[in-house]
Amino acid sequence: MRAPLTDLPVAFEDVSLRIRDFTILDRVSLHLAPGAPTVLIGPNGSGKTTLLRVAMGLIEPTAGRVTWGGREHIPPQRRAIVFQRPAMLRRSTAANIEYALAQAGAMRSDWPAHVAELLGLVGLAGFEARPARRLSGGEQQRLALARALARDPEILFLDEPTASLDPAATKAIEDVIRTVAARGIKVVMSTHDLGEARRLAGEIVLLHRGHVVESGTAADFFAGPKTDAARRFIAGELLI
Ligand SMILES: Nc1ncnc2c1ncn2[C@@H]1O[C@H](COP(=O)(O)OP(=O)(O)OP(=O)(O)O)[C@@H](O)[C@H]1O
Ligand SMILES: [Mg+2]
Repeated sequence: MRAPLTDLPVAFEDVSLRIRDFTILDRVSLHLAPGAPTVLIGPNGSGKTTLLRVAMGLIEPTAGRVTWGGREHIPPQRRAIVFQRPAMLRRSTAANIEYALAQAGAMRSDWPAHVAELLGLVGLAGFEARPARRLSGGEQQRLALARALARDPEILFLDEPTASLDPAATKAIEDVIRTVAARGIKVVMSTHDLGEARRLAGEIVLLHRGHVVESGTAADFFAGPKTDAARRFIAGELLI
């Protein structure tokens, strides 16, 4: 029997993205393998969001190549992404999740159970009937996460999932990330919060001006950064 196709690992081979004269990603080579979350860190404009979009398959690099499970140009059926400011459908909270379930091909008779399970997972049990666009910012982030999980992804890309959330909402999201990672979903996320990176990361990728300055296990990165830029970044100095 043939092994089921998988989108993992996601491999970046010398990937660059140039728009006009501007280099947004600069010869990035990366190997995103199953395991604990990979966390992208780096200053504003260093390319974190762009890297996530390329890894999702939403943007084609202008040089180099990206492969998913060794294959190029694979439609993102096993991948989901949550943007920093997710757009909600002008429908109920439950209907936002049902839309994703329908797209993922889940049987309609199973929807109520899936919706209840996913809302419970992200701490929004009982929110089914609420208009999604009336939810608070933190609640919308959690709904966006539930909606992404409704697609039953193998890989989940999260762009600053806790930006502008308070400590309780941040903890709720981090708990969900740990839970889904423990279920075997590969999480690849960006953050500006080094504490969060320490709490969640199995692997760290530090970007600066579109280039990977340093990558490796979180334990090694925080205990013994190899580059001066990484040392300064961990120390809280400004990388400019
Ligand atoms: N379509 C585009 N056209 C031109 N420049 C772009 C485009 N998309 C991104 N950029 C530029 O590429 C750089 C990297 O942007 P990106 O959003 O990936 O950074 P980031 O690390 O996510 O930053 P932040 O921490 O502020 O979210 C920025 O200078 C941005 O202005
Ligand atoms: Mg960004």
